[in-house]
Amino acid sequence: MAEHPAYPVGLRLTGRRVVVLGGGQVAQRRLPALIAAGADVVLVSPEVTASVEAMAQAGEITWKRRRYQEGDLADAWYALIATDDHDANTRASAEAERHRVWCVRSDDADAATAWTPATGHSEGVTVAVLTSSARERDPRHTAAIRDAVVEGLRDGTLVAPHHRTRTPGVALVGGGPGDPDLITVRGRRLLAEADVVIADRLGPRDLLAELPPHVEVIDAAKIPYGRSMAQEAINDALVEYAKQGKAVVRLKGGDPYVFGRGMEEVQALAEAGIPCTVVPGISSSISVPGAAGIPVTHRGVAHEFTVVSGHVAPDDERSLVDWPSLARLNGTLVILMGVDKIGKIAETLIAHGKSPDTPVALVQEGTTAAQRRVDATLATVAETVRAEDVRPPAVIVVGEVVTIGPGA
Ligand SMILES: C[S@@+](CC[C@H](N)C(=O)[O-])C[C@H]1O[C@@H](n2cnc3c(N)ncnc32)[C@H](O)[C@@H]1O
Repeated sequence: MAEHPAYPVGLRLTGRRVVVLGGGQVAQRRLPALIAAGADVVLVSPEVTASVEAMAQAGEITWKRRRYQEGDLADAWYALIATDDHDANTRASAEAERHRVWCVRSDDADAATAWTPATGHSEGVTVAVLTSSARERDPRHTAAIRDAVVEGLRDGTLVAPHHRTRTPGVALVGGGPGDPDLITVRGRRLLAEADVVIADRLGPRDLLAELPPHVEVIDAAKIPYGRSMAQEAINDALVEYAKQGKAVVRLKGGDPYVFGRGMEEVQALAEAGIPCTVVPGISSSISVPGAAGIPVTHRGVAHEFTVVSGHVAPDDERSLVDWPSLARLNGTLVILMGVDKIGKIAETLIAHGKSPDTPVALVQEGTTAAQRRVDATLATVAETVRAEDVRPPAVIVVGEVVTIGPGA
């Protein structure tokens, strides 16, 4: 018989009976997708793996604890035959054929009437890869193609712009602390679809170099602001470009809402009636200490961590930070934008009861090639910053967690 290519199709299984014969590894791998598709799954097998048993206990599937019997496939729309008994599989697929039930066979692709493609998902799209014929079947190759396509869509190296569902307006994307690998999958995809990117100095600047030539990249710090404030000029630029119908990404360092003025931009866009989506990012407040081997919490050492801005000194009337209270906490203190004022901050913490010997670490340009860590104590930190010429951007960590990692 001439071999024709398989005909690809997407089965809509919601509420429809799917019979799975066998409860081993094959069933375990396939069941989550059947459950996710809303199928009414009936699994027939005397024994099952622990994971399959858990699915039965959770009511996600019906488990018939016995061997396959003639008639099991009568009401099925689709069947997966995967027992370790070849004869039973053959009888079951003959039954499937009689009842015109499409059936996959784990032990004999030639005898099957359906094949399971290698599948993956990316933002509302299912990628399914099949080889054209039984002769060319190569599951590793199809899985590798699936991985390449899904990975490419996720990280934006495979650019497939949305036409109907392209995110309109502005996306405020948290870019993470600097390492280009530390942006979210969604952020990277939106970046790949952007017409205009307005970027901060902090964040994954290397990603900007990868953007196609037609993308306009604007340095947020260089937007002329005349008589308005710099932030207002950025807000105006976001509104202006979005009004021109462009897909705008506002790429910010870390997370947009952690000392990132993200909400001011959201509010300005809302006032102008421009749709805006916010993509969280990995904040430097946790990731930069982590990159330098410092956990912000550790069992038996710190049950809390507090993130504060040190951009104004404790005695500055604009400061909203309750430094005396922070001095009384046992946990970890993470200070952002604090390099310039660290002397005053350390003095205040000591004056309100923190031990001068409390360990301090400063992590400059964390997660980038230029990362460096400098250690001190509250008593010595001001002098250490001067002597070692520590410069922003740096995250300052105060507390015992500084000393516990192998890098301490
Ligand atoms: C305006 S705040 C923005 C914080 C950002 N939204 C976040 O969630 O990480 C800037 C401060 O974040 C810290 N910072 C950001 N990225 C950093 C990095 N890669 N290394 C060290 N500090 C960083 C520094 O304290 C810097 O002064």
